[in-house]
Amino acid sequence: MEELRWGVLAPGKIAHTFVTGLQGLPGAKLAAVGSRSLDRAKEFALQHGAPRAYGSYEDLARDEEVDVIYVSNPHNYHKEATILCLENGRAVLCEKPFAVSAAEAQQMVDAARRNKVFLMEAMWTRFLPAWQQVRSWIDDGLIGDVRLMNATFGFRSGWDPGSRLLNPDLAGGGLLDVGVYVTSAAYWVTRRDPVDVVSEGHIGETGVDEQAAFILKYDDGSLATLACGVRTSMQHVVLIYGTDGWIEVPHMFWNTTRAVLHRGEEEIVFAEPHISNGYEYQAKEVARCMSEGRLESAILPLDETVRVMKTLDTIRGQLGLVYPFEE
Ligand SMILES: NC(=O)c1ccc[n+]([C@@H]2O[C@H](COP(=O)([O-])OP(=O)(O)OC[C@H]3O[C@@H](n4cnc5c(N)ncnc54)[C@H](OP(=O)(O)O)[C@@H]3O)[C@@H](O)[C@H]2O)c1
Repeated sequence: MEELRWGVLAPGKIAHTFVTGLQGLPGAKLAAVGSRSLDRAKEFALQHGAPRAYGSYEDLARDEEVDVIYVSNPHNYHKEATILCLENGRAVLCEKPFAVSAAEAQQMVDAARRNKVFLMEAMWTRFLPAWQQVRSWIDDGLIGDVRLMNATFGFRSGWDPGSRLLNPDLAGGGLLDVGVYVTSAAYWVTRRDPVDVVSEGHIGETGVDEQAAFILKYDDGSLATLACGVRTSMQHVVLIYGTDGWIEVPHMFWNTTRAVLHRGEEEIVFAEPHISNGYEYQAKEVARCMSEGRLESAILPLDETVRVMKTLDTIRGQLGLVYPFEE
């Protein structure tokens, strides 16, 4: 497939960043945008050069001249929007967290398989060249056996109880917003489900997790100690410790251009600028998979996305966080 025609569903904050990333990608074409508001769709289309703007998600999903739709509304609407696109035969790249629960994620995956359409979670970090390098270092045995991983991702959002980050009606809280990054990173490093999970957190005034820490334990005794939050400024660093060395993915690990391998006194640095802003690598993977006729990515298989959600379900259960729409 020489050209891949992208549609954007819900043109909010991250959608602007995503389409900016697309601009650096040969063959990627922004074809259409769909919003609940036609004015918002038109404004986005004008700003980013999309030829068509729709005032409903249904019209976007029905556009035969769109190959793949990027779903970027708040988490609790991902399932409905994604299934709408899939049922209309459109491939989907759905923002993280893929869904609010593993049960929702499974329904989305089932819809993709039933309709034989490509689907992938937009866990963009995993596709960055530095994170691909991290995986190769581990596969090549350069740090020996992985025994411990430590990752934190938290920031202090402004106090806006109605915002997507703090509003329980929009599946707010740190775990689903940024905890998904550290949990998905643990899956990328260990390639396994944990056998045990222990979590603690603080549920704030609005009823969502403002911060949380959790330990994942694996069948060989290795551990991942992870933390996240939306009201605490944390370092966004991942450290992976093995029997023969360790890997450091520096601050802003989620969009890093750099990773460092330490073996004794030796230090090997991977550093490579992004083609665009970092969001293009996941889109590149979508294009590659679709041009090869694949229905999912081997780098981020759908079953793994569901398993990550299952682990987030477990953590959320331990935090005692149930969203109003789940009661
Ligand atoms: N990959 C990343 O780096 C990254 C970064 C930030 C966020 N995200 C993810 O992307 C998704 C959107 O985040 P965002 O910060 O871009 O959100 P946002 O700007 O607040 O909203 C995005 C769009 O969602 C729709 N929307 C907003 N509030 C809504 C509501 N109350 N009910 C129904 N629809 C609503 C709107 O689309 P319409 O125009 O159609 O109304 C809006 O334009 C989240 O799942 C988030 O986790 C990913």
